[in-house]
Amino acid sequence: MNFVSAVSCLLMFSLALLGHAGKCPKVCSCDGTKLTVACVGKNLTEVPKTVDEITVKLDLRNNNLQELPRGAFTHTPYLTHLNLQRCNINRVKEGAFRALGRVVSLNLAYNKIDILLQESFDGLSSLKELHLEHNRVEEIQPGAFTQLGFLNMLAITHNQLVYIPNLAFQGLNNIKWLRLSHNSLNNLAHEAFAGLFTLSRLSLDHNELQFFPTQAMSRLREVTRLDMSHNPMIYLGEESVSMAKLTHLYLDHLSLQDLSEQAMSGAPLLTHMDLSHNQLRYLEPLTGPKNLGSLNLTGNPLYCNCYMRPLKRWASAGGIKVLGACAGPPHLSDEPLKAVALLDLRCRSRGETLKDDLEKDDESAQTPTAKPKLKVKCPADCDCDIEAQHATCEGRGHTKVPRGFPAKTQLLDIRSNHFHYLPSNSFPGSGQVVSLHLQFCKIHEVESGAFQGMKNLLYLYLSDNDITFLDSGAFTGAPQLTYLHLDGNRLGQFPGSALVLLPNLFVLHLEQNAISKLEPTGLLSSKTPHLKELYLTNNSIASIAKGALDSAFLATLHLDSNQLTEIPTHALTVAPNLEELRLSKNLIPFLGPKAFLPVSQSLKRLYMDHMGIEKMSMDSLEGLDIGLKALTLRGNKLENLPDLNLLKGLEVVDLQDNPLLCDCPLLPLRKWVEKVGMEVMATCGSPPEVKGLKVHEVHVFKSCQEGKSHEPEATRPPKLNTRKLTPKGFGSKEKQMKPKLKKLHTTKRRPQTKPKETKKKKKTL
Ligand SMILES: *[C@@H]1O[C@H](CO)[C@@H](O)[C@H](O)[C@H]1NC(C)=O
Ligand SMILES: *[C@@H]1O[C@H](CO)[C@@H](O)[C@H](O)[C@H]1NC(C)=O
Ligand SMILES: *[C@@H]1O[C@H](CO)[C@@H](O)[C@H](O)[C@H]1NC(C)=O
Repeated sequence: MNFVSAVSCLLMFSLALLGHAGKCPKVCSCDGTKLTVACVGKNLTEVPKTVDEITVKLDLRNNNLQELPRGAFTHTPYLTHLNLQRCNINRVKEGAFRALGRVVSLNLAYNKIDILLQESFDGLSSLKELHLEHNRVEEIQPGAFTQLGFLNMLAITHNQLVYIPNLAFQGLNNIKWLRLSHNSLNNLAHEAFAGLFTLSRLSLDHNELQFFPTQAMSRLREVTRLDMSHNPMIYLGEESVSMAKLTHLYLDHLSLQDLSEQAMSGAPLLTHMDLSHNQLRYLEPLTGPKNLGSLNLTGNPLYCNCYMRPLKRWASAGGIKVLGACAGPPHLSDEPLKAVALLDLRCRSRGETLKDDLEKDDESAQTPTAKPKLKVKCPADCDCDIEAQHATCEGRGHTKVPRGFPAKTQLLDIRSNHFHYLPSNSFPGSGQVVSLHLQFCKIHEVESGAFQGMKNLLYLYLSDNDITFLDSGAFTGAPQLTYLHLDGNRLGQFPGSALVLLPNLFVLHLEQNAISKLEPTGLLSSKTPHLKELYLTNNSIASIAKGALDSAFLATLHLDSNQLTEIPTHALTVAPNLEELRLSKNLIPFLGPKAFLPVSQSLKRLYMDHMGIEKMSMDSLEGLDIGLKALTLRGNKLENLPDLNLLKGLEVVDLQDNPLLCDCPLLPLRKWVEKVGMEVMATCGSPPEVKGLKVHEVHVFKSCQEGKSHEPEATRPPKLNTRKLTPKGFGSKEKQMKPKLKKLHTTKRRPQTKPKETKKKKKTL
């Protein structure tokens, strides 16, 4: 390019600018050098058509556009920034933004858009930021974002989303931050976030999620920050959070009352965790995160007794900064947890480890330095903490349920009083209470409607009272009840009819009652569709009718310390999710064939200690091959066991205190003990020469003949001393034996389990 043409070019450009300077819509202000046009607050009803074609920034805030038609901006193809905030827009037609292939920022906040149509954002192929805050979006159509391959940030906060369907955000191939705060989300489809491979930050705070959306979250492989605060979650179970790269997790202002120590086991990189303003009284050390640096427990009613020691130890060992103060016992009240010495975290006696906070009364009497409290509405002989939304009248000798708690009270603790019975409508004005403690109150009767109006009640503790019977209307008016503690009462029957009113029941504690049988009527199944954990330890259950335990969701069932005489196989036929079954301390001398087959697909933990088991049918554990992780058989009368080689998934096994007969029929067990990489406690009970020795240490097995069938159900082998001991070392003998044993197993084993075994082995190598 020569000088002349360069000059003329410049000249033409300047002329063009001059010429354009005149082309500015009447109500707008235009800057010809910055190429910006602003028409703010002019009550415009349509996008001005006379905006200069070369405009790069167009600001149309505060107008009255109502609907954006197809092709609304085709005359301004060079736009990079478009601001349409507060334009009263209720509909964005398909193709409205066509021709805007250069726009990087589009602001549609504070409008009235209720649905994001499939092609609403077509054409915005360079868009990096899309603001849709403060609209009324309740539906995202599939494919709404497929054209936004360069979008980094999408904000749909303060809208009305309730549900996110599968693949809602498909096409956002460069998204970094997705903001969905302040909606009404209560459900996320499992694949809601599928395909977001670049997302590093997700905001889901201020929604209505009651459970951690484990499945949906597990699709987010690159997310490092997750904000879930201000959701009404009450519990985080094992492996709730399974997010490989997560470093920052915000779980503050939920209603968490409990958190499994395994909840974060799938978040190994977690460094910051905020659990402030929950309802946690205790916290166990968390397994999973290796580099946790800070844990915020501010605003939890932490009870600083011996149960907090493990946490404290864990925190100091790992250099974890723990924030939060003790709420009790009184002498440690308001003391920062980090300032409390390990030795001051005490439980004084066994009685107090059970009822750890009874000490409160006398100690608070001895504490003259108690801080003056603000005068608040609170019943006599109770303490109400407005800020923490807690009220307690524990152990104050009340004979009637006190009334007049602050309306915002969420945790109401009135345990250890003497109510004897709860009349209907015992808790007026307690609609905000989430957790109600009524342990040790000598209650023997709960009148129908006692909890009337407690529409937010999630946790109810009625443990250690004298209830013998529950009326079918006992829980009327508390439909959200999720965790119900009725242990330590005198119930003679399963309170099935009272539970029918509790569709959300998730955990039910009925330990230490006098229930003698389980019947199908009005019990579980469809009436309590979410019941996941049922604790019936230490009742006198002798019979369980077929169908009594049918519950598609039941995952944990404790039936230990009862009077069962057989495995309730027939009652477990419709419990396909059962993972943990405790049967210890029932007297069941014989375990028949296929005793657990109905639940074999799901069962992971099986406890059968002290059951007087003398004999187990060789196929009694059939079907548990892959899934079973823990098996305990401690303190039985077993001389032999089925072949545990078949249980490929076992991680924990306890065979202690059985009179195992250490002879050839036990060889498969011996081989298995050697093979598995865990400590198996199994000792010989006989013959006398090896009594008390560990199965894997005795040498009697050396002499077992290789070719001989070691089926333990075969008749007793010849006496030990009649067999000659081989002079060879055990190792070489074993080598000779191996192929034959293997062959024996392959013929017994079902063919499809074979490849899995080899796969698993490779993995562990
Ligand atoms: C805006 O325009 C609408 C009609 O288009 C009219 O009813 C309304 O009064 C106008 N508001 C202002 C503040 O000019
Ligand atoms: C801990 O939580 C409190 C209350 O939510 C908050 O004010 C504080 O900033 C948090 N501290 C840290 C270090 O995150
Ligand atoms: C069973 O409950 C009774 C009281 O109801 C108690 O004395 C006993 O120790 C409990 N047994 C077990 C094994 O928990």
